[in-house]
Amino acid sequence: MSPGISEDNKRRVGRVSKNFFLHIHANKVHPHSLETSYTFGLGMILGFLFLVMILTGVVLMMNYTPSIERAYNSVKDIVFVVPGGRYIRNIHRWAAHGMVLLSFLHLIRVFFTGGYLAGRRLNWIIGVSILVVVLFMNFSGYLLPWDQLGYWAVTIGSNIAASFRELTDILGITQVLDIGGFIKKLLIGDETVGQAALSRFFMLHVIFLPVTLMVLSGVHLWRIRKDGGISRPQKQPVQAEGVAQAEVAVNQDINGADDRGREKFYSWPVVMWAELAILLLTVAALLVMAFLFDAPLREGANPDLAENPAKSPWYFLGIQELVSYSAFAGGVIIPILFLVFLISIPYLDREDQKLGVWFSGKTGRKLTWQSLGISFFVTVLFVFILVRFGWFRSWFPDIPQIIIMLVNPATLSALFYMLWAVWIKRKTGSGRMSAIALFTCVMTGFVIYTAIGIWFRGPNWEFYWSSSQWPVF
Ligand code: HEM
Repeated sequence: MSPGISEDNKRRVGRVSKNFFLHIHANKVHPHSLETSYTFGLGMILGFLFLVMILTGVVLMMNYTPSIERAYNSVKDIVFVVPGGRYIRNIHRWAAHGMVLLSFLHLIRVFFTGGYLAGRRLNWIIGVSILVVVLFMNFSGYLLPWDQLGYWAVTIGSNIAASFRELTDILGITQVLDIGGFIKKLLIGDETVGQAALSRFFMLHVIFLPVTLMVLSGVHLWRIRKDGGISRPQKQPVQAEGVAQAEVAVNQDINGADDRGREKFYSWPVVMWAELAILLLTVAALLVMAFLFDAPLREGANPDLAENPAKSPWYFLGIQELVSYSAFAGGVIIPILFLVFLISIPYLDREDQKLGVWFSGKTGRKLTWQSLGISFFVTVLFVFILVRFGWFRSWFPDIPQIIIMLVNPATLSALFYMLWAVWIKRKTGSGRMSAIALFTCVMTGFVIYTAIGIWFRGPNWEFYWSSSQWPVF
C-alpha cells in the first residue's frame, strides 16, 4: 500500500482485498471502465448468467435421469411436478441462450473497440475459446430433455460433424478413411443418436464443459487485470513527435491516465454498486422471461418420425444453411476459416495506438457501414440467385460434385469478403481497417445465413417467406 494513504482509503482497499469474493477486483479502477456505452456491461452480465446457469443446473440435475427411458419423463416431472421446477428450467434455458447471444455481442464490442490490442492478444484468444465452449455447452444441453426438438437438432448436428464425408466420397476413400464418420462417432458414440450420445452429452454438459468454462473464465478475468484493466483510449501524443512517441504513450498509459486525463479511483464501493445493479437487472430480466415464456418441450424423442424441417439450434442454423449448399465447404472449411480468422485478428492488426476507440474513429465507422452494406448486398444476391434460379446442379445435372463444393454461395461470399479486405488494406495501408472490413463482412454474412435458416427454410429445406406457407403433409 502506498505511503501516505488515508485511513478511509485503507479501509476501501481492505474491503476489496480481504474479501474472498471481491479480491478479484483491482483496488483502483479507471472511470472509463464504468462507462456503459463502452462495455455495455456485457462481460459482467455473461459472468452472472454463467453463475445462474450453475445454480439452476444443479437443481435440475437433482431431478434429471440421463437415460433414454427416463430422461423425457424426468424433465416432464421437473415441469409439472417439482415445485418451481418449470421456472428453474425456464431460467436455465433462457440464461443459456442469453450466454450464446451475449458472447457474440461481447466479442463484437471487444473487436470494434480494439480491445485485443496493446498486449491483450492472449485474452482475445482465450475469449474465442470461451465462445466455442459456450456454443458446445448449449448444444450438449439441447439433447438432454430427449424430446423431438433436441433429438432431431442433435441428429442434424451430428450429420454436420460428418461433413468431411463429402470430400472423402469425392476422393473415393470413405471406405478406408472415413474422417467424417470418425468425428460423428466421437461426438455421439454410435451411428445414430441414442443412449451413448445421451450419456456423452450429459457428462459434457454437467462436468467437462462447465469446468473448462470456469477455468477459462478465471484466466480471462485474471488477464484483464494483468493487461492493466479494461481497455481505454490512450493519451494522444503530440502530432509532430511521430510514431515512436505514440508507442511510448500507449505503453506508459496502460496503467495511468486516459485521453481525458482522468485518473483511477478506489473500486470500493462504486464498482460493487455497479455490479450489484447489473446482477439485479440480469436476474430480473431472467425472471420476467421465465414467467412469460416456457422453455420448449415437445413430444418424446421418436427416431422413426423425422421432423421436417429438422433444424439445429438457432446459433448453428447459419452453418446448416451453408451445409445445404455443400457439406464439406459449409460444415468444415468455412467454420474453420471463421475460427482461424477470429484467432488471427490480433496478428493481422497490430495498431496498438487505436486501442479503446470505437471503430478506431470516423474512418473506421464509415468503413464499417460500407462493409455492412456491401456484404449484405453480395450475400443476399448469391442466396437470391440460388433460391430463384437454382445452382450448378440444377443447370448441369452431371457436373462433378467438387465444383459444387468449391463454388457455391458460401464459398463465393467468403471469397468476396476476403478480396474486399485485401483491397481495403491496399487502399488504406492499415491492418486495423482491413480487419474491420473483413470482420464486418463476416459477421453480416453470419447473421444473414442464420436468419435464413431460422425464418426462411421450411420442409425439405425449401425457401418460404413465412411458415404459414409450409405445405401440410
Ligand atoms: C463466459 C463468457 C465471458 C465472460 C464471463 C467474459 C467476461 C469479461 C469481462 C467481465 C470483461 C471486462 C468487462 C467487459 O468488457 O464487459 C471482459 C473483457 C474482455 N473479453 Fe470477455 N468474457 C467472456 C467471453 C469473451 C469472448 C467470447 C471474447 C471474444 C473473443 C472475449 C474477449 C475479451 C477481451 C479481449 C476482453 C478485454 C477487452 C478490453 O480490455 O476492452 N470475452 N470479458
